Amino acid sequence: MIKVYPSLLAVDILHIGDSIKKIEDLADAWHIDIMDGHFVPNLSFGPSLIKALKKFSDKPIDVHLMVENPEIFVDSFISAGSDHLGFHIEATYHPQRLIKYIKSHGVKPYLVLNPATSLSTLDYLLEEIDTILIMTVNPGFGGQEFLPFTLKKIQDLRERALKENLNLNIMVDGGIDLKTAPMVVEKGANILISGVGIFENSNPRSVILAYKSLSLKEV
Ligand code: DX5
Ligand code: ZN
Repeated sequence: MIKVYPSLLAVDILHIGDSIKKIEDLADAWHIDIMDGHFVPNLSFGPSLIKALKKFSDKPIDVHLMVENPEIFVDSFISAGSDHLGFHIEATYHPQRLIKYIKSHGVKPYLVLNPATSLSTLDYLLEEIDTILIMTVNPGFGGQEFLPFTLKKIQDLRERALKENLNLNIMVDGGIDLKTAPMVVEKGANILISGVGIFENSNPRSVILAYKSLSLKEV
């Protein structure tokens, strides 16, 4: 079953509540992008949005930290109410320590890899974590074009998971729309994050339903 996490970076911030309510029953979680202006050349939201969203919607909140030294920020995002907390493997010296720390607070950690980061960085971590986010654009902005070379990476990771008998969630983020979603699912992604592809479509509900109708690769 494909899961869909709409990325709220793409909503008109002055109408965020309306945009959420229109698709809330179809969303599996809300994806919130956190940018620090260092790890990525942009700024976005902070813990106050997570706190407000927690009161507004019952759906899980999936927080994607695009920040240097994520260990500095995790406490404030945990106490704000994050349900999933993802951080980039490129952004910390001690990913295993951070995974353990996040888990110890009852929050689900996941690891994020930039498009050019090798899957070999996961070699000694796959026993510790069940969800990997493969960026399909260079992070920092919504509405960018999907990078086709990431398809091979999704496929390699899915094949590795199957071979090693790992029940691994492969998330993808960046440039996911009605054209690219079938391609990433075919390669083995099972959680689709999508911003512009959902919110800039005249019928966001039909886009989510189309994503969900894709069937997962069973090899
Ligand atoms: C990119 C962010 C994404 C972004 C995706 O740096 O991590 O979550 O919102 O946006 P779209 O789906 O519009 O490419
Ligand atoms: Zn994201």
